[in-house]
Amino acid sequence: CNVVVLISGNGSNLQALIDSQEPGGPVRIRAVISNRADAYGLQRAQAAGIETRIIDHKAFANREAFDQALIEIIDSQAPQLVVLAGFMRILTQAFVEHYAGRLLNIHPSLLPAYKGLDTHRRVLTAGEAEHGCSVHFVTAELDGGPVAVQAVIPVQAGEDIDNLVRRVHAEEHRIYPLAVRWFAEGRLRLGTRGAMLDGAPL
Ligand code: GRF
Repeated sequence: CNVVVLISGNGSNLQALIDSQEPGGPVRIRAVISNRADAYGLQRAQAAGIETRIIDHKAFANREAFDQALIEIIDSQAPQLVVLAGFMRILTQAFVEHYAGRLLNIHPSLLPAYKGLDTHRRVLTAGEAEHGCSVHFVTAELDGGPVAVQAVIPVQAGEDIDNLVRRVHAEEHRIYPLAVRWFAEGRLRLGTRGAMLDGAPL
């Protein structure tokens, strides 16, 4: 399964995907694309010998033009799966529809709770007992697509935000490679009524 990963920053999830790739295994990361030239994840990709591309959203007149150019770069790699790993751009409906059923994202909350930014602080402020992260298929609704895999962790008494972020990240690095591998193996897919694993609804 040829995979293209989109990033904007640190790329620790990208690193987890790189580390989980096995020679001859089902997942092949063909390219890493960033909208920011200074994204540290680009260095991670280069260190792993993966092709990198930069496409600066500020060079385009609008979201539609940026997304169209992005589609062209992605499709030049002919990927079966496109993985968003900290890609900090809202995607147009045209983009999302173009990759329907083959576009995954990871979000640091137990979706459908806490869509959007700043999830960890909001979870702490609300005094939630549990937090976590979700891998989901991307649809036009921001952070709203069908969930494929979730990891749940208890929030510790008196836990500070740095600790919580660190623990959620560790879970992200566990479940994203898992979801990508399941997709690559043909086990995970998007059905008409939601995500399916091994033919059964999730
Ligand atoms: C992660 O917290 C992910 O859930 C969110 O963006 C962050 C990316 O982190 N979508 P990294 O760049 O993979 O370290």
